[in-house]
Amino acid sequence: MRTFIENMPKAELHLHIEGTLEPQMMMALAKRNNVTLPYATVDEIRQAYEFSNLQDFLDLYYAGMSVLVERQDFFDLAWAYLEKMHTQNVTHVEIFFDPQGHTARGINFDTVLSALTDALDQANRTFGITSKLIMCFLRHLSEEEAFETLAHARKAKGHIFGVGLDSSEIGHPPRKFERVFAEARNEGFVAVAHCGEEGPAENVADSLDYLKISRIDHGNRALEDPALVSRIADEGIALTVCPLSNLRLNVVTSMTDHPLRRMLNAGLCATINSDDPAYFGGYMTENYLSVQEALNLSRDEIEQLGRNAYTGSFLDAASKRVALDVYDTFVAAN
Ligand code: HPA
Ligand code: ZN
Repeated sequence: MRTFIENMPKAELHLHIEGTLEPQMMMALAKRNNVTLPYATVDEIRQAYEFSNLQDFLDLYYAGMSVLVERQDFFDLAWAYLEKMHTQNVTHVEIFFDPQGHTARGINFDTVLSALTDALDQANRTFGITSKLIMCFLRHLSEEEAFETLAHARKAKGHIFGVGLDSSEIGHPPRKFERVFAEARNEGFVAVAHCGEEGPAENVADSLDYLKISRIDHGNRALEDPALVSRIADEGIALTVCPLSNLRLNVVTSMTDHPLRRMLNAGLCATINSDDPAYFGGYMTENYLSVQEALNLSRDEIEQLGRNAYTGSFLDAASKRVALDVYDTFVAAN
């Protein structure tokens, strides 16, 4: 099973590029940019990664971003992730970025975007990895600030495929961003949102109804509402589930309690993703392996999860067919 998981073609649909900042790179960039960190060593950074909830993590996640200053820093960050994904046989990635985490520090939107776009283009040329970029609004900030961020995206439509919603779910319900999502969709951006991670099932329903999302990021707590589960299954809306993130942020109490199998059994298009791998202890392969071992997922279940990732991706119909053919050929031969 391990070899199959390592070698299978994979797609990642829930990945915050700022969450791939490994402690080593954080230290190196802090030095390069003369940023003072509250840690003296890489080990000290690692030791700080003990979270009791989402907010605990977010506080360190935003602090960590302070080392990303120059265009090259953003390129190096993305390139390190993409090289790593190539070694894990990841062939398609849909990547979030948090521009407000950078523009708030005086960094130019276009500096961030062009660095990420360059790294993604280079990964396509070098490794054949395909990608989509999704710009997230930070939900703890205001609607007005989200509109300002959307104005930047409007000028870069060719490079940004969709908009998302992340950061603190509690206290910032989906409807706070109903108008900004309406405008974003009007302009042709696909919509997704983090919901039902810490917040209730109602946040998942409201994200579908008011933000008109095409995919659910996390969505664990949707399982608390059977009618909602049937609706999501019937509409074929994919969920981007993040097992190691769920464990580290106490969304689940142990990996053996993870709801992934229940999601599959309910007919949901659940997928496996890494979220913020540098903070949560694993990239794609490690996420697959940890949940497979804990739940004793069968070969059929792993195959389904792998297929769901391509099915639930935002690849156009023709590219999706090609990717699924490659996947099915691998599965038949291994
Ligand atoms: N949830 C909300 N916001 C985030 C996350 C997450 O898992 N990762 C990075 N920002
Ligand atoms: Zn996330």
